[in-house]
Amino acid sequence: MTGILLSICSQKIVRMYLGLDKKVVLVTGGSRGIGRATVESFLKEGATVHFCSRTPETVQKANEDLAKKFPDAQAIGVVLDVGDVDKLVQWVERCAQESSRIDVVVANVSSFHTEDVADHWEKTFQTDWMGTWQMIQTAIPHLEKSKGNIVTIASVSGRDIDFTAPGPYGPMKACMIHYTQGLANRIAGRGVRANVLSPGNIFTDVFAEIETGAPEFFKTQLDKNPMGRLGTPAEIADCVVFLASERASFVSGANFVVDGALCTGVQL
Ligand SMILES: NC(=O)c1ccc[n+]([C@@H]2O[C@H](COP(=O)([O-])OP(=O)(O)OC[C@H]3O[C@@H](n4cnc5c(N)ncnc54)[C@H](OP(=O)(O)O)[C@@H]3O)[C@@H](O)[C@H]2O)c1
Repeated sequence: MTGILLSICSQKIVRMYLGLDKKVVLVTGGSRGIGRATVESFLKEGATVHFCSRTPETVQKANEDLAKKFPDAQAIGVVLDVGDVDKLVQWVERCAQESSRIDVVVANVSSFHTEDVADHWEKTFQTDWMGTWQMIQTAIPHLEKSKGNIVTIASVSGRDIDFTAPGPYGPMKACMIHYTQGLANRIAGRGVRANVLSPGNIFTDVFAEIETGAPEFFKTQLDKNPMGRLGTPAEIADCVVFLASERASFVSGANFVVDGALCTGVQL
């Protein structure tokens, strides 16, 4: 008995180690919102993070702020519209060359077009779909070498019929869930994992604009959340980092719903 007690007392407490230090991570749409929080969560783990977004001033400011906040890690933001797939391919290859590898890609951008009109369907296809698919296709050979992984950002709008229906936003997110799960199955044997994360209602600029511009609608949406609040970008980012980490080494093909119990349909 004393022996068992002694052995328990002498055991070291080992914290959950994510194994992300020195890994090379690409995040699209990393200057604000969920993407920015994801960049920061990876930097906290000691990863090198390449990110992109469209607005030069925001990218410059993000680069400056991140360099100050994380002096021991490296964040490299560039101006890029993921809908411009030729430039997207060049960016992915340039990141691989500059950092000698790619371990994780996070496809985070959406164009947030919700109207059921041709123009919105076309823009959503080009940005949400081609921007995600092309990034993944370009990264796969690098991920095969590093035995890395992919995280795509979908939405609960991809599985629930909500205020965005019947526009392109939800169907394109559903497409992303289906694609990521199918891809995970097909590339598992090549040592690459792929998961999709579906956030619920998260307080980023999108909801800040709704709160200011349409306060009653905002309240209706807020009231639907059983926790009585929206999620924060950091709460999504930490789950992305977990999925990308060594601790999730047997998690692939998952649709990881992070919505504070918003969805009522049971996901079987
Ligand atoms: N917020 C939510 O409640 C919620 C819920 C479910 C799912 N999601 C999903 O989470 C993801 C991020 O949403 P968010 O709320 O964090 O958005 P956000 O706050 O509007 O931030 C979007 C980020 O992406 C960049 N971006 C937008 N379009 C781009 C493009 N074409 N090319 C490159 N960068 C681009 C933006 O910078 P620039 O404008 O300077 O380019 C910004 O850095 C999206 O896929 C969204 O569908 C969000």
